[in-house]
Amino acid sequence: MTFYETIMKRRSIRRFKDMPVPYAVLKNCVNAARLAPSAANLQPLEYIVVDEEPLLDIVFDTMKWANYISPSGNPPPGERPRAYIVVLNNSNVRANGFEYDVGLAVGNIILVALEECLGTCCIGSIDRAKLMEILNVPDHYTIALVVALGYPNERPVDEEFSGSIKYWQDECNVLHVPKRKLGDISHRNSFASL
Ligand SMILES: Cc1cc2nc3c(=O)[nH]c(=O)nc-3n(C[C@H](O)[C@H](O)[C@H](O)COP(=O)(O)O)c2cc1C
Repeated sequence: MTFYETIMKRRSIRRFKDMPVPYAVLKNCVNAARLAPSAANLQPLEYIVVDEEPLLDIVFDTMKWANYISPSGNPPPGERPRAYIVVLNNSNVRANGFEYDVGLAVGNIILVALEECLGTCCIGSIDRAKLMEILNVPDHYTIALVVALGYPNERPVDEEFSGSIKYWQDECNVLHVPKRKLGDISHRNSFASL
C-alpha cells in the first residue's frame, strides 16, 4: 500500500484487540517523532512510553473519549489501548508555539504505527495535572498530547460532510466520521477560483 492509500484509510481507533504492542515498535514511533521537523530546530519535545499494567489502566482514567458520542465511544474493558505515547514539551527549551512541532511529531507516530498495523487515537482531553503526577513529570514540562495505540478492533468509516462534523455510531456500532469535501477546502492560485 502506498503512503497515500494508507493515509486515506486511517481513522482514529478507540476499540483495540487485547494484544500487547511490541516495545520495539513503540520505540520506532518515538524515533520517527524525534526526526520530525521542528521550528528553529529547537526540538522541545520528549516522550514517555506507557505499556505496562497497572499503569495502562491508571493512565486510561485520566482521559476522555469520543465526546460527541459519550459514553458509548469510551473503549470498554478488554478493548482499551495497550500503549500510550505521552508527548511532553520542555518549556525551558520553548515556552509557547510548540504546538506545530507536536502536530508534526504525532503525525510521524501515527504513520509508523499504521505501517505496523496499529490503530491510534490522539487524546487532548486529559487531566494533565493528574497525569503529570502519575508519571512523575517535572514542573517545567507540559503534557501536549497523548497518542493511544493498539491493534484495531473496529473499522470506522469516513463519509462526506453534509451539515455536521459530529461523528456518529450506527446500529452496528460502526463509527462514521464526516469529512469536508476536497472542493470545499482547496483553492488554486486564488481563494476565489477552484
Ligand atoms: C489534537 C487532537 C486532540 C484530540 N483529542 C481527542 C480526545 O481527547 N478524545 C478522543 O476520543 N479523540 C480525540 N481526538 C481524535 C479526534 O476526535 C478525531 O481525529 C476526529 O474525530 C477525526 O476522526 P479521524 O481521526 O478518524 O479522522 C483528537 C484529535 C486531535 C487531532
